[in-house]
Amino acid sequence: MAAIGIDYGTSNSEAVYFDGQQHHFIKLDPLQDQSNKIRSSVFIYYEDDLPLPPTEVIENKVLHIQRAITDQIEKAKQSYYEAQDPREQRIYSDKIDDLRAELHNKPALQRRAIQILLKDLTVQDLSLQQLVETGKFAFGEEGFKRYLKTPEKGRLIYSPKNFLGASLVAGQQQAFVGMIAKQLEYFRISAQNQLNLPVDTAVIGRPVKFHGTRGDAGNNQAIDIMTRAAQMAGFSQVQFLEEPIAAAYKIERSLDKDTNVLVVDIGGGTTDICCIKLSPQKVSNLDRQQDVLSVTGTRLGGMECDKNLIVKSIAPTMGQGLQMQNGLPVPPTYFTDMCAVDNIPKLNQFFSEEYGLEIAQTMSIVKEPKLLQRLLVVQEEKLSARLVNSSRLAKELLSSKNAIILPLHYIEAEYEVSINNDDLNRSMQSWLRRVKRLVSECLEKSSQPPELLFITGGMSLSPIVKKELQEVMLSDLPVIEGDAFNSVCEGLAIRAFNLDNR
Ligand SMILES: Nc1ncnc2c1ncn2[C@@H]1O[C@H](COP(=O)(O)OP(=O)(O)OP(=O)(O)O)[C@@H](O)[C@H]1O
Ligand SMILES: [Mg+2]
Repeated sequence: MAAIGIDYGTSNSEAVYFDGQQHHFIKLDPLQDQSNKIRSSVFIYYEDDLPLPPTEVIENKVLHIQRAITDQIEKAKQSYYEAQDPREQRIYSDKIDDLRAELHNKPALQRRAIQILLKDLTVQDLSLQQLVETGKFAFGEEGFKRYLKTPEKGRLIYSPKNFLGASLVAGQQQAFVGMIAKQLEYFRISAQNQLNLPVDTAVIGRPVKFHGTRGDAGNNQAIDIMTRAAQMAGFSQVQFLEEPIAAAYKIERSLDKDTNVLVVDIGGGTTDICCIKLSPQKVSNLDRQQDVLSVTGTRLGGMECDKNLIVKSIAPTMGQGLQMQNGLPVPPTYFTDMCAVDNIPKLNQFFSEEYGLEIAQTMSIVKEPKLLQRLLVVQEEKLSARLVNSSRLAKELLSSKNAIILPLHYIEAEYEVSINNDDLNRSMQSWLRRVKRLVSECLEKSSQPPELLFITGGMSLSPIVKKELQEVMLSDLPVIEGDAFNSVCEGLAIRAFNLDNR
């Protein structure tokens, strides 16, 4: 039996096996150049017809139809009593017989109920739980491509991890368990096939704090969902390890003496920081909690930057800031609501018909309605996830370019927005201040100062982040160069190996 590390990230996921000497990266996405990484988004879809509505919904509709038929029978009876001659009476008594037969023909009533229910049903009307129970799953690039090609055929869950700490009712929790179980099972089976070993144990990374506003209750819920999903995926043993601590275990193997290290992991959904005593003598010890000097973390990842970049640099080309006839600006909440891809209720509200009507009404009282038309297209065609993804691409490109032109042709033909590094820098300032505050908090909580700095996570590739942390805030700390994407998962794999070889 083998144990693997799984980095179930907000943006990307990875699975790695450590054999005591070497790391083996499991290939998860055949459509990507770096096939050991896979997008964490899931597209759940239907190739053909939508599933039948649940039995209780059909039965309710049947009752509804039966009530209507009973009313018709009562009316026919009334007409029968009021009829003037036997011939007329006969017509009504035949009608009553027909209606009674209809009332008791259950199969025909069910067929009629289903027909009525399916007439206007779209994927968006299905609950998440129904979708997970009856839809097909497409992961990684394949799923994202399918979503771009046929968005009406299914629903894209952009970052399942973002919802785990949020307020979820029982059905939604069950839906996330089912959805993540499918992803973890795919990782486990891929690992088994590529390693030629049965895989039954996983050490899964966890942020210090999950995304959500519910504190410990949210964190406990998230771990509970992940545990149930892992068990459903066939892992009989599951452990969780804070992501920055996992990254620390990876770099520990390259140290030649005891060193206190500050690890800053800035991912897509959260920033997680730890100060930890590392020691080459302890690389195979299992219990390391006493070496952790301090940990901090919050829901402050790259996606927040993507949304801020939309609000600062793209929304002004969609009508943000326009004045209405009463002198007030167009409600700025239109644009923050448009970006709420990690808040299901808010996003559903944005996609509602009433919201569309409100935007359309606002369009009639501004001077340049053409710009707001773009917002309306995003609203009507439910393009929020696609727009946030475009903004993410813009941010990533600006790590290696001074300026770019971002095509948004799926919103309007020839619609393009130019964005440069100054724009990105400005949009990141308040986010950076919060990241730095989190670093300070971790330093204050630690009883010993760090001697080395290690920055990891995809956002560590941003020159703006690097400069602010390495050159401005922590300029006295030597920096360990490491991998932005793999360190967490490699550390998780080391822990999994130690767990399996106790
Ligand atoms: N070259 C780049 N420049 C700037 N940002 C980048 C670059 N490459 C990736 N990113 C950003 O890094 C983030 C993803 O990082 P990572 O893969 O570490 O996150 P994750 O592990 O999925 O998320 P989390 O750890 O928060 O759950 C995204 O916001 C992405 O846009
Ligand atoms: Mg991560």
